[in-house]
Amino acid sequence: MKQQGLKNFLEKRIWVIGASSGIGEACATALIAAGAKVALSSRRAERLNALVQFGDKEQTIVLPLDVTNQEQLESAYQSILKGWGGLDLLLFVSGVYTPLRADNFDFTVAQKTIDANLLGPMRAVGVVLPNMLKAHAGHIAIVGSVAGYSGLPKALAYGPSKAGIINFCETLYYDLLPQGVSVHMISPGFVATEATAQNDFEMPALITANEAAKEILEGIQAGKFDIHFPKRFSGFLKFLRILPYPIYFWIIRRFVKI
Ligand SMILES: NC(=O)c1ccc[n+]([C@@H]2O[C@H](COP(=O)([O-])OP(=O)(O)OC[C@H]3O[C@@H](n4cnc5c(N)ncnc54)[C@H](OP(=O)(O)O)[C@@H]3O)[C@@H](O)[C@H]2O)c1
Repeated sequence: MKQQGLKNFLEKRIWVIGASSGIGEACATALIAAGAKVALSSRRAERLNALVQFGDKEQTIVLPLDVTNQEQLESAYQSILKGWGGLDLLLFVSGVYTPLRADNFDFTVAQKTIDANLLGPMRAVGVVLPNMLKAHAGHIAIVGSVAGYSGLPKALAYGPSKAGIINFCETLYYDLLPQGVSVHMISPGFVATEATAQNDFEMPALITANEAAKEILEGIQAGKFDIHFPKRFSGFLKFLRILPYPIYFWIIRRFVKI
């Protein structure tokens, strides 16, 4: 059994959460250009409103929200149902990153990171899932990170939040494949965005947000579960995680100078 791709975005009803910058913004603008109906969400309404100009009047809805707020997610979903009668794809891109190591570990930062990056997608999935299950149709795509594959420096909260996304997507895929609902787990390497602009080290295999959006949208069209890129970097990290721990930690200490 293989899951369905979303072959053509024309007229498809798509909710992009985290559309105000970076990878989410690039996905949203590409989807608008492809003729999709796009609901634009994140906290900064002014940044979302700026994207409306890229489409026809009827093509976009701006639904500002915070992914840590259950009521705002539910109310945004109700607006989508009212406007468009249903949803074909939930594309959850939103995420936060605060560098955190053992010597500056801060529980409040960890809690906020897990709330936004792991519980946020769970809340959104909880909101859209009942109708997708009823219809035996729909797509759920969640942006995790290669940082979720194995422990990496400076990711004491971000890493666990993204590792949780991998397990969540794997389990969702297992449950939803027989139900006709597709799951797309997205694991980017380094992408040049506002989030990575703060990095003070050279990022290997860095790609642009538009390149990331192309990988994501092509992966969804092809019906892929595991969408990871750029392959030269994500493939290498996938290989590292099958190594015994002593070798894994040796390689990380030897080559990751942050
Ligand atoms: N850039 C990379 O190298 C990289 C690598 C791997 C994975 N990723 C993942 O890719 C995703 C996008 O990251 P990016 O690099 O494009 O970062 P970005 O430019 O900082 O964008 C993050 C997006 O998330 C939204 N967001 C953050 N907290 C939110 C909240 N509480 N409620 C609603 N929206 C929220 C932001 O919008 P508002 O501020 O308007 O709310 C923004 O639209 C994240 O999940 C990130 O972890 C990025």
